[in-house]
Amino acid sequence: MKYMTGNEIREKFLKFFQDRGHLMLPSASLIPQDDPTLLIIGAGMAPFKPFFTGKVKPPATRITTCQKFVRTGDIENVGRTARHHTYFEMLGNFSFGDYFKKEVIPWSWEFLTKELGLPGDKLYITIHTEDDEAFDIWHNVVGVPEDHIVRLADNWWEIGSGPCGPDSEIHIDLGPERGCGKPTCGPGCDCDRFLEIWNLVFTQFNSDGEGHYTPLEHKNIDTGMGLERLACIMQGVDNLFEVDTVQNIMKKICEIAGVTYKQDEKKDVSIRVVTDHIRSTVFMIGDGVVPQNEGRGYVLRRLLRRAARHGRLLGVREPFLYKVAETVIHENESAYPELVQRRDYIVKTIRVEEERFARTIDAGLDQVNSILEKLSAEGKTVFSGEDAFRLYDTYGFPVDLTKEILEEAGMRVDEEAFAKEMQAQKDRARKARGGEGYMGAAVTVYDELPTDLETKFAGYDVDTVVDAKIVALVTNDAVADGAQAEDSVVV
Ligand code: ALA
Repeated sequence: MKYMTGNEIREKFLKFFQDRGHLMLPSASLIPQDDPTLLIIGAGMAPFKPFFTGKVKPPATRITTCQKFVRTGDIENVGRTARHHTYFEMLGNFSFGDYFKKEVIPWSWEFLTKELGLPGDKLYITIHTEDDEAFDIWHNVVGVPEDHIVRLADNWWEIGSGPCGPDSEIHIDLGPERGCGKPTCGPGCDCDRFLEIWNLVFTQFNSDGEGHYTPLEHKNIDTGMGLERLACIMQGVDNLFEVDTVQNIMKKICEIAGVTYKQDEKKDVSIRVVTDHIRSTVFMIGDGVVPQNEGRGYVLRRLLRRAARHGRLLGVREPFLYKVAETVIHENESAYPELVQRRDYIVKTIRVEEERFARTIDAGLDQVNSILEKLSAEGKTVFSGEDAFRLYDTYGFPVDLTKEILEEAGMRVDEEAFAKEMQAQKDRARKARGGEGYMGAAVTVYDELPTDLETKFAGYDVDTVVDAKIVALVTNDAVADGAQAEDSVVV
């Protein structure tokens, strides 16, 4: 096994499947197209759902991609461990009614053992309990010994509603020293010994998301292998943050903050949070997500604000994320040239959001800390919903951040009381507007615009051109700071 950079692994994978008749497509945008069931792309197969179901004819029946995606389900753990992150790249090969198990299983073995040179005797396979066909191919065709194949009832893959099916995972044994030592330890165990590297999904069913499964018209293949995880193995490091392309981002953060990784566990948490979140946010903004108070714009805002707070914990007082964004773009420019084209926009969006948040964060943090001290002195562990609401309402301090700071101190927010305060404020606002929105209309995004905006009608005084300043933008139905090509915008 020889050292390989992240970029080399990506190229090798895509070439391997191109040589086997696959059309290589660039990563799709992180913003799902025509798929209201998803907020953000969270798997390599997500952009291809209609190809699996047969609703849309694919440009080829064999496709290979390296798809970027963001998963924020575990966001609280990012930073705390070296394993969790929100930004991923997934290598995948797909068959839409073309090849099936007997092709994909031997190919995956060939790629791992021949192309990457991973030791076959360290690889373990899991299959669905009833999948005798997969067992037969792994054992009799590929030659994997029986004691390296494990049947598990939960070997099934689905994401919300849509195409799904039984799967077969390839795990690598990282050695007993990484394990829990229990006699039951094996692939699928929660400890760090057996690391899943590749998931082969035999996509044959469609799920309505409520437990009903119908067979698809044709059988398909969907595979996913996390690039960062594979890079850890190929580079002999035990976590993502030490992989070549990520390390340079981390170094930049350490340089700006004047800190060194692995000297102080608390600082390491912050370094990891910033490293991860700046990657997600650069790619999200590059794909046209705008910081907003709801939907995917809120996911972005939350990531940026979380990163900004951890910057403060590292002692950085000035906006700095926008500088790290430059490094992220540089590290990814060969695989994602669109980042270079959008560099100015990405950097500016981050800077504006950072500057805006900087005005809030210091006042908010001071308040949270003084309430925390008071609670500690009184031996209490619950932060009142009223206080959390006041921080949000008066200082614009995000409640997610309040909750996180409290959790770190072993406390919690009275969420029920907070929700009540929030509802009461909404009711007050509605009443103040005379029941509903403007002239009795439903409350809309326009009700969120500042009420002191001044606009002037110049149509009577000028010909057809006039210099003007934009005072507010509504992008894709939310108040925003900018827009991208193809957004729907109201100026
Ligand atoms: N869609 C499968 C996954 O994300 C391959 O694991």
